[in-house]
Parts: sequence; structure tokens; C-alpha cells
Amino acid sequence: MTKTLFSTAALEEVTEIKQKRAYDKLNQLHLPIIALGHARKEAEPDRGETNQLESESYIKKHNSSRSILSDKGLRKTLRFDYHETAKHQENPMSKLLKAAPFVEEKLEHLKLMCAELKDKGLTPRMEVILVGVHRASKLYTTKKKKFCESFGAECEIHRLDEKIDEASFLRKLKEMAENPKVHGCFVQLPLPDHLSGLDVAHLIPPEKDVDGFHPENLYNVMLGSGKALWPCTPLGIMQLLEYYQIPVLSKHVVIIGRSMIVGKPLAQMMTNANATVTLCHSRTKNLHEYTKQADIIVSAVGRSRYLNESYLNEGGQQVLIDVGINHDEEGKLCGDIDAEKIKDKVHAYTPVPGGVGPLTILSLSQNLLQAAKNHL
Ligand SMILES: NC(=O)c1ccc[n+]([C@@H]2O[C@H](COP(=O)([O-])OP(=O)(O)OC[C@H]3O[C@@H](n4cnc5c(N)ncnc54)[C@H](OP(=O)(O)O)[C@@H]3O)[C@@H](O)[C@H]2O)c1
Repeated sequence: MTKTLFSTAALEEVTEIKQKRAYDKLNQLHLPIIALGHARKEAEPDRGETNQLESESYIKKHNSSRSILSDKGLRKTLRFDYHETAKHQENPMSKLLKAAPFVEEKLEHLKLMCAELKDKGLTPRMEVILVGVHRASKLYTTKKKKFCESFGAECEIHRLDEKIDEASFLRKLKEMAENPKVHGCFVQLPLPDHLSGLDVAHLIPPEKDVDGFHPENLYNVMLGSGKALWPCTPLGIMQLLEYYQIPVLSKHVVIIGRSMIVGKPLAQMMTNANATVTLCHSRTKNLHEYTKQADIIVSAVGRSRYLNESYLNEGGQQVLIDVGINHDEEGKLCGDIDAEKIKDKVHAYTPVPGGVGPLTILSLSQNLLQAAKNHL
């Protein structure tokens, strides 16, 4: 049976034949590489462009009536997203891979999606537990809340005392996780020492796990299944590369850092996207030898500006993704990459700030809308 694809408002505007045609076209669209787990689409640009034009004109036509969302929600939107990136092909690549243009573009989609959900009687709601007064954590949660509210979702931060005992913390967490009005939730890390042994990833139900840390979501990432709520930072990196038309298919990606929130899931997602991945860490010998062989280097170490020209090859074609958020000796925010030293020696690199950070917040929001959508 054909599922309803468009909202009532849109149905009034298009004839049945047009709707059927658009539906057929949409069904031909491919999921993005991150969702499918395979990068076949990269080898089929022509088909992608055709579909992109049609889907774009549809979005433009129906923007005002907030009708682009299907009942398949974010996954469908990701299909749109993937093809929309094709328009950047004609642009010369910017050396600085800033998040802002991509985030701005996505924000419009998120607004539309959120409005569509509200039309169906559901206001996406995220709740966060923040323990203590960790300065960076306070800043991050506030940014996440602001971003959520900017596209129409609700967000509440539960600020708990630094010294809260484990039982009270768990009670609060359970209350948040079991609240049917909450579609997505997470605990802002790090937790104070006396709570840091708790396995928070297991405590948030997988269907509300907007951070994408739950083992069930990670398993879906390994499968390359579209069901996953994606780990946010890796999802942001994959999307940014897609946006700037930087292919990963058959490329050698060297990831430095093997944490559960960045390096390991990213290695899996890159593998799903048919990259060849080398995952490095503090016990890797001769790190320079690996990075010099890389097409794409992702650094998620957390060491101020350590990655300089000595890690690069002479080709000038490498792409550098900087996940690190550090403060230098003067207290200035900086990444793992020494931008001054590498900027003329690579094809492209992400800045800090303004690179991977905003993408992580964007991914969190995408997961929230997906979780809310699944709730319908
Ligand atoms: N932009 C964002 O949105 C975002 C999101 C998450 C994290 N971050 C930032 O990214 C950085 C990493 O975060 P994380 O949570 O993934 O860190 P983490 O859990 O501390 O892991 C750091 C990783 O770096 C490796 N490492 C440490 N020293 C190394 C060295 N000298 N050579 C090679 N590898 C080395 C460690 O190896 P071992 O495993 O052997 O110890 C570990 O795998 C931090 O600055 C964090 O603030 C940013």
C-alpha cells in the first residue's frame, strides 16, 4: 500500500498524478552513505543530480506550507540532504571547512521538520542532566538548548548539585528517561569523580539516546543500519565531508584517538562508507608514518596544536579534520591542529572554533527530531 507522503496542505496543492510522480522519484533517492553503510551513491553522480533538482524544486514550492516532511521523517530528509550537497560540486572548494554554511542550511530543514511534527500534535522535547559547575559543560548545554529552541523544539536543563549522591542522581535520570513527554535526553559529560564510574550509556533508553552512545545504537552503526541514532561528532564529520564534496570512497582515513564517542564509531562509519581506515592511539608507533599516507586525517586527541606540518606529506592534497577542543597556555581555545603551520600545506581543514563543534550540536538536534518522529 502506498504510504501518505505529503501533508494535507501539500495535497491540496498538487494533483494526484504529480504526487505519485514525486513519490516515485523520492523512492528512487538513496540514503546517504552514513545511513546506508555503503557509498555506492558516490559513483552515481548523474542520477543524484537529476533527483536533486526535482527534490529541490519540491522543497522550494512547499516551504511556505511547511509540507516537505513525509511520515518517514528525518531519514527522508537525509535523502534530500544528500542530494542537495550536489550543488556544491560546481563551487571551488573552500580550504577552510567551516560548519556555519552547512549548519545554516540544515537549520531551515530542522525548522520545517519540527513544524511538521507540531502539526501532528508532537512538540519535540529534549532534556539534559548537568551535574555541577563544570564551565565548559555549562557552555555546551546552553548552546545545545539554544540551538534546539532556534528550530522550535523544547529543551530543559536539569542542573544538579556537584555533590549529589548516586541514588538521587539515578532517580533523577530515571525520571527524565521515563517521562513520555521527553523524546530525547542525555547526561552532559564529564560527571564528577564520584559518579564517573556509572555506565551512563546504558542508562538512557536507546530510543531517546540522542547522543548515540547506547550499545544498541552503536550496534546499528556497525551494521550501517538506518535505525541508529548516530553518535553526534562522527555523524557531523561525515555530513561535513559530504557537504564539501570530499569523497571518502576508497580513501585512506587515518583517525587519531579511539574513544567511544569519536574515534571508534567514526572508524566504523568511515568503513561503512568504503574508506580504508587506520585507527591510531597513544600506543601507535611512528604515528607520522601513518598520517603521511593518509588522504584524510581526523585528530581527536585533545592536545593543543600538536598536529603540524611534520605529520603531512608533500602532496598538499590531504584533508584535516580537527575534533580537539583545547586551551593553549594563554587560555585561548584551540584545536589539535596547528592551523598556522599546516594551512598552506593541505587541501582543506576544519577550524577551531567553527568546525566540528557546531556539527556535533547539529547532529544532536537531528537525532532529537528522529527520536521524536519515531515516537509518532
Ligand atoms: N568538537 C566536538 O564536538 C568534540 C566532541 C567530542 C570530543 N571533542 C574533543 O576531542 C578531543 C578528544 O576527545 P575524546 O573524548 O575522544 O578523548 P579521549 O577519550 O580522551 O581520547 C583521546 C584519544 O587520544 C589518544 N591519544 C592521546 N595521546 C595521544 C598521542 N600522543 N598520540 C596518539 N594518540 C593519542 C588516546 O589514546 P589511548 O586510547 O591509547 O589512551 C585516546 O584514544 C578532546 O579535545 C575533546 O574535548 C570535541
